Amino acid sequence: MGSTPSFPRVSIPRDNISVVTGGNAGVGYHTAKWLAMMGGTVIIACRSEERAKQAIQQMNKEFAEEKQKKTTGVVDFDQLNVEFMSLDCNSLKSVMNFVQAYKSSGRKLHRLICNAGIGLQDKLSYTEDGHEQIFQVNYLSQFLLVSHLLPVMKTSGPDCRIVLVSSMAHEYTHFDPGDIEGKKYSEPKYDTSELYGRSKLYQVMQMFRMNEILKDTNVTVLSLHPGLVKTPLLTTFRNGIFKVVLAVADLIGTSKTPFQGAWTSLNAGVNPELAGVRDVYFSDSKPKTPKSDSRNKSYQAALWDYTIECLKEYLPADILRELQ
Ligand SMILES: NC(=O)c1ccc[n+]([C@@H]2O[C@H](COP(=O)([O-])OP(=O)(O)OC[C@H]3O[C@@H](n4cnc5c(N)ncnc54)[C@H](OP(=O)(O)O)[C@@H]3O)[C@@H](O)[C@H]2O)c1
Repeated sequence: MGSTPSFPRVSIPRDNISVVTGGNAGVGYHTAKWLAMMGGTVIIACRSEERAKQAIQQMNKEFAEEKQKKTTGVVDFDQLNVEFMSLDCNSLKSVMNFVQAYKSSGRKLHRLICNAGIGLQDKLSYTEDGHEQIFQVNYLSQFLLVSHLLPVMKTSGPDCRIVLVSSMAHEYTHFDPGDIEGKKYSEPKYDTSELYGRSKLYQVMQMFRMNEILKDTNVTVLSLHPGLVKTPLLTTFRNGIFKVVLAVADLIGTSKTPFQGAWTSLNAGVNPELAGVRDVYFSDSKPKTPKSDSRNKSYQAALWDYTIECLKEYLPADILRELQ
C-alpha cells in the first residue's frame, strides 16, 4: 500500500459544488464520494447514466456504513448530494452539451476534478471529431470543458480549484512539437503507452500555461499522479516499461486501492493549505518535479496553439479571450 498520507477531513458547505469527470468508477468514484461525505454537492460527469446511477446508489450505501461507524469528517445527512450529468469525452459535442446544461443550471463551480481517462488501447482509434482517442479523452475534451467552465469558476467566490489527474507515465515520454497527436504512431509501430504518456504530459503543461493566464484570479490549477491504483485502467498497462514498473510495485506492495488512489486528488481539492497555490504536481500528496519538457515555454506554446486549433469550432470569442 505504500506510505501515502491520507487527506485532510474538512467541512465542505452544501452549496460548495464540485464536478468530477469519470466519477462513477475507480479513483473518481472515491474522490466524488468523499467530497460529498464531507458535505459538498458533487456532480459526477459520466458517459453512462446507468453506471452513474449505480455508483450513486453504492456511494449512499457506503455513506450509511461510514455514518454508522462514526467515521471522522463524515456529515450527518440522510443522503449524499451527488448527481449525474452526461459527459462523453469521446465527443466534443457531448462536452458542449454538458457545458450548456451546467451553465443554464445557474450553478456556481468551486472544484473541477478532471479525472476521466482511458489507458492503453488494443488498436489505434479515432473519435467522431477525428482525433486520436487517448489524446481526446484524456486531454482535449477536458481542456474544452475547463475552458468553458472558467467564467463560471471565476464568479464562484474565493479558492476555486481545477485538479488535473495526470500520471507518472508523463515522465516516460517526450514532447514532439512536430507530432503532438502522435500521428506517426500508426500501426504496426503503434505504441499506446507513448500516446497515453503524452496525454498525461499535456495535462501538466496545461496546468503551467493556464496558471499563467489565471494568475490574478481566484482560480488555481494543480496536477497529480494518484499512484499505481488497482483499477481496470491499470490492467491495460501490459507493455514495455510499465510492465516492469507494475511488477515491481506488486512485489514491494506499493500499489493502491481505489480509495487510497483518491487521496492525492482529495488533498489537492480540499487541503486548506493549498488555497491560492499553483503549479504544483503532486505524487502521493507530495510535490514532485514533473518532467522538464512540461516546463518548456516554447513546448507549452506549441501545445496551446495546436489545442486551440483543434477546438476552434467550439471556442467562441468570449471563451478565447479567457484563454489569452
Ligand atoms: N490506475 C492507476 O494506476 C492510474 C495511474 C496514474 C494515473 N491514473 C489516472 O487516474 C484517472 C482515473 O483512472 P482510474 O484508474 O480510476 O481508472 P478507471 O477505474 O478505469 O476509471 C476511469 C473513469 O474514466 C471514465 N471515462 C473513460 N472514458 C470516458 C469518456 N469517454 N467520457 C467520460 N468518462 C470516461 C470511466 O467511465 P466508464 O465507467 O464509463 O468507463 C471511469 O469513470 C485517469 O485519468 C488515469 O489516467 C490512474
